[in-house]
Amino acid sequence: MPTLKWWQTALFYQIYPRSFADGNGDGIGDFAGMIAKLDYLKELGVDALWLSPHFPSPNWDCGYDISDYCGVAPEYGTLQDFKNFLQGAHEHGMRVILDLVLNHTSDEHPWFLESKSSRDNPKADWYVWADTPPNNWQSCFDGEAWTFVPERGQYYYHYFMKQQPDLNWRNPAVKQAMWDAARFWLDMGVDGFRLDAIGTIYEDPNLTPHTVPMSLAELRRFGELAQTPAEVRLKNRYWHEMFKYQHGGPGLHDLMKELRLVLDEYDGDRMLVGEDENIDYMGSGDDELHLVFNFPLMKTDRITPVHVRRNQQQRLAQLDALPVRGWGCNTLGNHDSSRIYTRYGDGVHNPQLARLNAALVLTLRGTPFLYNGEEIGMSDLIITEPEKFRDTMATWYYQAIVQELGVPPTEAALRAGMMSRDKNRTPLQWSNAPNGGFCPPAVSPWLPVNPDYAQGVNVQDQTNNPASMLNYYKRLIQVRRQTPALLAGEYAPLHPQARTYFAFLRYTPQQSVLVILNYSDKPRRLSFDIPGKTIARLLFSSEINKTDESLAGIHLAPFEARIAELG
Ligand code: NOJ
Repeated sequence: MPTLKWWQTALFYQIYPRSFADGNGDGIGDFAGMIAKLDYLKELGVDALWLSPHFPSPNWDCGYDISDYCGVAPEYGTLQDFKNFLQGAHEHGMRVILDLVLNHTSDEHPWFLESKSSRDNPKADWYVWADTPPNNWQSCFDGEAWTFVPERGQYYYHYFMKQQPDLNWRNPAVKQAMWDAARFWLDMGVDGFRLDAIGTIYEDPNLTPHTVPMSLAELRRFGELAQTPAEVRLKNRYWHEMFKYQHGGPGLHDLMKELRLVLDEYDGDRMLVGEDENIDYMGSGDDELHLVFNFPLMKTDRITPVHVRRNQQQRLAQLDALPVRGWGCNTLGNHDSSRIYTRYGDGVHNPQLARLNAALVLTLRGTPFLYNGEEIGMSDLIITEPEKFRDTMATWYYQAIVQELGVPPTEAALRAGMMSRDKNRTPLQWSNAPNGGFCPPAVSPWLPVNPDYAQGVNVQDQTNNPASMLNYYKRLIQVRRQTPALLAGEYAPLHPQARTYFAFLRYTPQQSVLVILNYSDKPRRLSFDIPGKTIARLLFSSEINKTDESLAGIHLAPFEARIAELG
């Protein structure tokens, strides 16, 4: 196997701190809880953890509005608790990367409080200020992107909520302060960062207005009601056009290069993964980001063989074209998206499809990222009472469509609940006990626990059940870890016309591995003509009764995921 960096072979697991594990019984996840679950994560087979923000925050955007980049939110513990967690993870052989939110701070961050206090304070130019709104730009979360501050008699720009003012990255002092914060954690030993929303750091310098004839609320509503293909196309075009001047502005390559140099000052192969799908931000392949997410893979209503094949063809060609060959990074879910189990289910075969999709992410070329809870098949829980929303984007939307568009409150609540990210952030279900074992029975968790914990969707029950989703993930992860071709091999699609199954090879000079994912409820007999190979030795199947088979006749069960080494 070629020598690879740790982040190339690692399986990453995203922890959403508020919902992962509650160590002190207050209904909110914390570091004590995370520390207690390190054994669990190790046994699952995870190599690296990505923590969504753990910093002090007023929580208008669940921690993505940071008020102190060098601290720990009190509800999660102390800095010492963080250090204990980091040390514990490292002792368990797991790396830790943190979420670095560069585009904006909280409006309660001392930098912003100072900046907004007058027009001539030392931080007056740390954010993006204007005397009057220079255009009709929208915040992607809550309407107008320019908000007035009486102290300055000026407006500040925010791509996200008004509580998340955009930093002025053209000011070198901002860079310096943020790089210092990054160094603070790197000095402590963290292994890298997931970079939040990097595309939004620089805007169009000409401040060009958008031309969409709708407000944000109207556009969202239009999208919900769009039915015909033409309406859906128009909605997509409007989304693109509404925000196209607000991201991807010039300057980001240089900024990423600078940050990369900061990381490269450290030993231990610290890494950066960008919350962006644009492979350009990998620079030469060796001077900007180490990874960017393959979001196009997950931007679909259904995972189909045709979609995945096309995605891989485009994506891998782009990675291969970089001067230093790029490494892929695949995921199907995170704290911003509907859970895999729900989103890619068909309502009838959700468990089977979730298993196929797990096998997909864990066998494609590139580094896989899992989202906490997917390993036990957690699904979306839609909250329809607006007073229970914690995702303030949903609260805003509910109010906007009731007040501005006259949508009846019951319908508005359902729509807002469906678009809310609360549904995929509910507490992890640890056992078949009240509150899913997340927190004591008498305590209200910060978001309701999905009641399906009582139907076997919990860690404890699944640990003891060999046929569970959890044990399926564990087996699959184990096979990945022990199979060099899956970690490091090339990818070659097979049977490229097949519409109901997806077959491909992963291969190194020493090993060829066949992966077949049957996305259909029908059994199949397949044959493969692979020079020099005759037999498919079973490494993994989602079925229990499978054995080695001749490449001339492989018998797949409905929805079977099969991994076989060729000989
Ligand atoms: C992307 C994060 O994943 C999301 O949760 C957050 O709301 C925005 N960036 C703003 O930070």
